[in-house]
Amino acid sequence: MTDSIHELIEASEAYLRRFGIEGARDVVSGIVRWKSGPLRKVTPQPDPRCGFLDEALAAIAGADDLRAAIMAARPVLKWITYDLYPREEIGPRFPEAHAFVPLIGGTAPVHADDFELGLFLIAPRTLYRDHRHAAPEIYAPLTGPHGWRFGIDEPFHDRPAHEPVWNPSLAVHATLVKDVPFLCLYGWTRDVDMPAMTVPAPDWDMIEARL
Ligand SMILES: [Fe+2]
Repeated sequence: MTDSIHELIEASEAYLRRFGIEGARDVVSGIVRWKSGPLRKVTPQPDPRCGFLDEALAAIAGADDLRAAIMAARPVLKWITYDLYPREEIGPRFPEAHAFVPLIGGTAPVHADDFELGLFLIAPRTLYRDHRHAAPEIYAPLTGPHGWRFGIDEPFHDRPAHEPVWNPSLAVHATLVKDVPFLCLYGWTRDVDMPAMTVPAPDWDMIEARL
């Protein structure tokens, strides 16, 4: 395994092994199961439409090996967007302000059945509105702080970089990205093809008006 995608997967696994939480262990198990698959050719899209990749990489502190692996793989990364939310529900900003790269998964450079690992980027001053999905999910933010809440009646609380968030299946969660771009490793351990759904909250407009 000498290509930069496999090296990035190795660095991601090593990074996630830092954390003892349930979700990190589940995602590491999935990585170990699938990581040795052959590299599938994908057409690179090294520049995410939302921008801010340089700023996000510059904001990483405390994960030098992983950052170096992302930078080495950057020319062959295919940044795409998640376009399954109805726009009137997810709002006008999120579709333009995020991008992600599957590394392992059904359409990723390294194949997996019903498992996904990748990078997820959100531009500053973006609310990723409350949503849920069947897939249990880890977010391991490499940058921070970012605001999080786990219920539409809850206040947002800041969490620093390198403090992973585990969202059990169908748990409601929202991310408030302020001045620092959000860059994380994400992992979905099953039900990866079930669409995500927004969970309407009464304060979206108010929060977005202040960003
Ligand atoms: Fe999510």
